[in-house]
Amino acid sequence: ETTLGAAAAQSGRYFGTAVAVNRLNDSAYTNILNREFNQVTAENEMKIDALQPQQGQFNWGNGDRLVQHARSRNMQVRGHTLAWHSQQPDWMRNMSGQQLRNAMLNHVTQVATHYRGQIAWWDVVNEAFEDGSSGARRNSNLERTGSDWIEAAFRAARTADPNAQLCYNDYNIDNWNDAKTQAVYRMVRDFKQRGVPIDCVGLQSHFTGGSNYPSNYRTTLSSFAALGVDVHITELDIRNAPSDAYRNTVNDCLAVPRCKGITVWGIRDSDSWRSNESPLLFDGGGNKKAAYNAVLNAL
Ligand code: XIL
Repeated sequence: ETTLGAAAAQSGRYFGTAVAVNRLNDSAYTNILNREFNQVTAENEMKIDALQPQQGQFNWGNGDRLVQHARSRNMQVRGHTLAWHSQQPDWMRNMSGQQLRNAMLNHVTQVATHYRGQIAWWDVVNEAFEDGSSGARRNSNLERTGSDWIEAAFRAARTADPNAQLCYNDYNIDNWNDAKTQAVYRMVRDFKQRGVPIDCVGLQSHFTGGSNYPSNYRTTLSSFAALGVDVHITELDIRNAPSDAYRNTVNDCLAVPRCKGITVWGIRDSDSWRSNESPLLFDGGGNKKAAYNAVLNAL
């Protein structure tokens, strides 16, 4: 196969990218998107501040535009993200308690209902755990509404769009030995045991190079999968785009049947939120980098 999407499809997987909707007007960008990828995630346009900038006023334009673009080209859409401590609109950041809980659940319901039937996977909750050795939940306005906010969000999403796969998504849950990884694992296990509707775990996988691509990544993927959830590599980028780390990441996903696909967090280095680290598969001119060939050959 000669494209990432077609190569991934040989094993029933997808290969996707984050898309900045305003760049769809850039034909060099959109040509690569349409040629190479069969899955998209909105880089910012389906976040809470983008979709509900004022309480009760929803802005569907950019999200709808991406969904349209994707569906007319048979690309699957990952919804990102229904509940998160970051990129909240001011009105939500200033809320607390039951009022915030209700507003969060209403947002989940409204958004999942609007996109019902069009989203393959939702990142229902993003980044709810603390970094470091504590294994604790992240302190946030949402967490302060009561630690059952995560399961409440998942239940609301299931009710609103019963056919979407519902994921928990986070970073620094790649190394199996990290306290944060273990804490997320225990939450997913608990949810499965108690029947909280969760279908998948997303590992963002923002790697900083060979040194932080963990040799036990495959163990992490397979251990989550063994709980009865799918796993997704949702936001892959690697500092300086070393070919070996990209190749290992692909091979680890392919080794785990429940690893359903890989999404890179942008197309060209110049599109990246980490553009100074050149972490992607295409250079600023849209040329394939060495890491691109490593990924294509591994798929
Ligand atoms: C980033 C975007 O790439 C940036 O454009 C934005 O300014 C900040 O957010 N984890 C996530 C993504 O789940 O939503 C973040 O995306 C990167 C880290």
